[in-house]
Amino acid sequence: MTPVRVLAVASEVYPIVKTGGLADVAGALPLALKAHGVEMRTLMPGYPDVMRRLAGADEIRRWPDYFGGPGRLLAGSHDGLDLFVLDVPHLYARPGNPYVTAEGVDWPDNGLRFAALSRIAADIGHGLVPAFVPDVVHAHDWQAGLAPAYLHYDGRPRPGTVMTIHNMAYQGKFASELIGSIGLPWSSLDVHGLEYFGGISFLKAGLQFADRITTVSPTYAREIQSDEGGMGFGGLLRERAGVLSGILNGIDTEVWNPKTDPHIAYRFGAQDLTFRAANKAVLQQQFNLDSSDEAPLLGVISRLSWQKGLDLLLETIPTILEQGMQLALLGSGDRDLQDRYQAAARANPGRIGVVIGYDEILAHLIQAGSDALIVPSRFEPCGLTQLCALRYAAVPIVSRVGGLEDTIIDIGEADASDRDATGFKFAPVTADALSGALRKANTAFHNKGIWRRLQLGGLATDVSWRNRAGDYAALYRDLISRRG
Ligand code: ADP
Ligand code: GLC
Repeated sequence: MTPVRVLAVASEVYPIVKTGGLADVAGALPLALKAHGVEMRTLMPGYPDVMRRLAGADEIRRWPDYFGGPGRLLAGSHDGLDLFVLDVPHLYARPGNPYVTAEGVDWPDNGLRFAALSRIAADIGHGLVPAFVPDVVHAHDWQAGLAPAYLHYDGRPRPGTVMTIHNMAYQGKFASELIGSIGLPWSSLDVHGLEYFGGISFLKAGLQFADRITTVSPTYAREIQSDEGGMGFGGLLRERAGVLSGILNGIDTEVWNPKTDPHIAYRFGAQDLTFRAANKAVLQQQFNLDSSDEAPLLGVISRLSWQKGLDLLLETIPTILEQGMQLALLGSGDRDLQDRYQAAARANPGRIGVVIGYDEILAHLIQAGSDALIVPSRFEPCGLTQLCALRYAAVPIVSRVGGLEDTIIDIGEADASDRDATGFKFAPVTADALSGALRKANTAFHNKGIWRRLQLGGLATDVSWRNRAGDYAALYRDLISRRG
């Protein structure tokens, strides 16, 4: 196996900085790739949390003026991850969420902040760090989308490029004037370049210029080639269909392991699923729910955004109550949804429990203690919480979209294909269809044999990165061999 060197570029990396699944992927994939002969280093911005954790990193380069202020490139490692860190205090030394101010609005200079990241990625691609000259530059989401564009417009021999779409809804759109300050030629302001409805889009740059495009599930790879799923890029993706593929995400099965999880009340495996009841009791306590083993407990761990369809779940509360179910929701995001969920909890004490916020430890307890995990997304590139649910024997109830379609086997499908069922899928993505799935799940829950089979089907599902990392390794090798 020829060793391959890949520079990954990501704006968040678990366990250092995380707002969603992108961080999980960027944090887990490099570790899984080692077994496939891929040496991956990840470039990320030097936010305060990064600088704290990489206090001993080596300075590789220093510039008096990098995009308007002093900057440095550092190399270091953290938790098994080899990292390059772009330390540019005037762009990244800001507390809190990496993309938005404390008031929740995008930083006005996000274009500059992430152009700077991509510029250095391209330079590393050209050999800036002799000890690590990558064969491939792998850009994740719009924040890294300019990397393939810089490499293209630099017009020099360059490594292969891969652009991975984690979410079509975030497109990195900016005013076209930005071109003048990020070192790209004005000729890039073209419909075959970065131009997008009169402005520019960093995501488009990546989609246009990367040698390969991937997204995080085969179904999402198909959906984004439609006008609706493509969210403006359907046409471009249809044109580039020959280089577009879907590779499912995995999860880190060490971090998510119910047999060793330090964050749950009682550890368990397939042999001792009954211990889940003890986790359920603790979860009910933490969410102020009535203590009852008989009431099916539905869990949700999610960003609260339109994508996730949680407004539809609110509409099904009458069904949840009438079916004798309980709901424990952990999430944060849209103010309106936060308020509505908190009001629902106040109106239904003991039955609906809501925690607004971001809490890794509580997320583990929800996976371990809820009977079913609900993911009613309008679109879902892959989704990770349903994979964690499979591993923790919480039965997923999901909409039939994107990666949810690809990772969950509905009871009906299992009958037809002889595969083990792992959950419930509903379509269309409406409150009515979700209510129907909740009723079906409730009936199944009260038949202990059926429910146990669903749980065991989940536990037997491979949700690790092992094979999926192999798909990325094969993609890199194929790309390198075709470029010669
Ligand atoms: P997305 O990236 O669209 O938010 P994913 O399902 O791919 O969706 O990944 C979400 C990740 O973030 C999962 O690891 C999930 O456990 C975690 N997560 C989401 N919301 C919360 C929260 N409020 N508290 C803790 N973890 C959360
Ligand atoms: C995005 C998607 C989610 C996916 C994650 C990691 O945030 O919304 O579906 O699992 O990226 O790829």
